[in-house]
Amino acid sequence: MASTFKGSTLVVFFLICALAWGWPAASLGIPDHTILAKFERWMAQYGRTYKSKAEKLYRLGVFTKNMKYVDAFYRSAAAHTYTIGLNQFADLTNEEFVANYTGYRRSNAPNPGTTPFLYENVTRVASTVDWRTRGAVTPVKDQGRCGSCWAFSTVATIDGITKIKTDKLISLSEQALVDCDFSNGACDGGWQDKAFAFVTSNGGITTEANYPYLGYQGICNITMLSDDAASIAGFEYVPVNDEKALMAAVANQPVSVSIEAKGTDFQLYTGGIFSGPCGADLDHAVTAVGYGTWQGTNYWIVKNSWGRLWGEKGYVLMRKDVAAKEGLCGIAMAAYFPTA
Ligand SMILES: *[C@@H]1O[C@H](CO)[C@@H](O)[C@H](O)[C@H]1NC(C)=O
Ligand SMILES: *[C@@H]1O[C@H](CO)[C@@H](O)[C@H](O)[C@H]1NC(C)=O
Ligand SMILES: *[C@@H]1O[C@H](CO)[C@@H](O)[C@H](O)[C@H]1NC(C)=O
Repeated sequence: MASTFKGSTLVVFFLICALAWGWPAASLGIPDHTILAKFERWMAQYGRTYKSKAEKLYRLGVFTKNMKYVDAFYRSAAAHTYTIGLNQFADLTNEEFVANYTGYRRSNAPNPGTTPFLYENVTRVASTVDWRTRGAVTPVKDQGRCGSCWAFSTVATIDGITKIKTDKLISLSEQALVDCDFSNGACDGGWQDKAFAFVTSNGGITTEANYPYLGYQGICNITMLSDDAASIAGFEYVPVNDEKALMAAVANQPVSVSIEAKGTDFQLYTGGIFSGPCGADLDHAVTAVGYGTWQGTNYWIVKNSWGRLWGEKGYVLMRKDVAAKEGLCGIAMAAYFPTA
């Protein structure tokens, strides 16, 4: 549903904010009404409404900045292997985006690695792996405005190992972790290794259907928590800063990885092979569900938890085998997988 404002009111407000922010139409090269129309089409497309006129004006300003960013991206001479656009995060500043939608807590202790690493002797792996086509990946979910990425990443790998082990694909519960895993911070972020330890000691995890996602921290329901539908023996750390080791693991099961997602290009990513810019200041947990090669460029297939509207139907392809040992956006720095 689009706005509740009358068109004439909007034009007036738009002019005021255009003046206030000092971006006369001429400097953008397009008439004002084009931006407003574009913003309202975008609002309708993403079902966005705002509580007040002031909020709408503010969001229009943010949207315009993001629009300029996207325009500059395409005007630059640089060759890109990915696209960006005015997706569902186009009315958020980068700071708001990071604060609302990421949620990996960088651990004080570095990933210790696990000895022996379960896949240390794997020497031959398929050149292409996609656990989606093998039925081991549940549909893309949406963490909403809650820093619970750690729960989504953890659960996606347990969905995966359960399918591999039992041939049953069951969508498991993130909310059980958000509500009941007190070693983590619910919507304020968390660590996947602690979540795996919690699931192990709990004797398993229940289904999404039984303990559905709310997007905020609720009171832990022990009855629902205890109704286990899948279990794991434990978990392992993938050897740190080793994309080959990560590949051996992903060839065998979906793997929880941690990345830096705070860049504007990642925020506005709409498809293709993401290749940065990004650093290795880990702030988001996602799931590697495969890898492949496109025109000589290797990539990871990464399941995100920002709904199906973000990226490639909820996924991001991330450049694989980069020069930095940490991997692109630090993808090889803190990776974990459950053991059967
Ligand atoms: C989350 O985003 C909303 C706008 O959608 C913003 O008002 C809020 O301040 C953000 N939260 C944080 C913690 O930045
Ligand atoms: C890898 O191979 C070595 C030598 O055969 C063996 O000692 C080790 O246990 C193997 N590692 C795993 C995880 O199976
Ligand atoms: C926990 O969940 C069960 C099953 O849905 C429900 O019957 C019960 O009332 C819940 N308990 C609390 C304390 O909310």
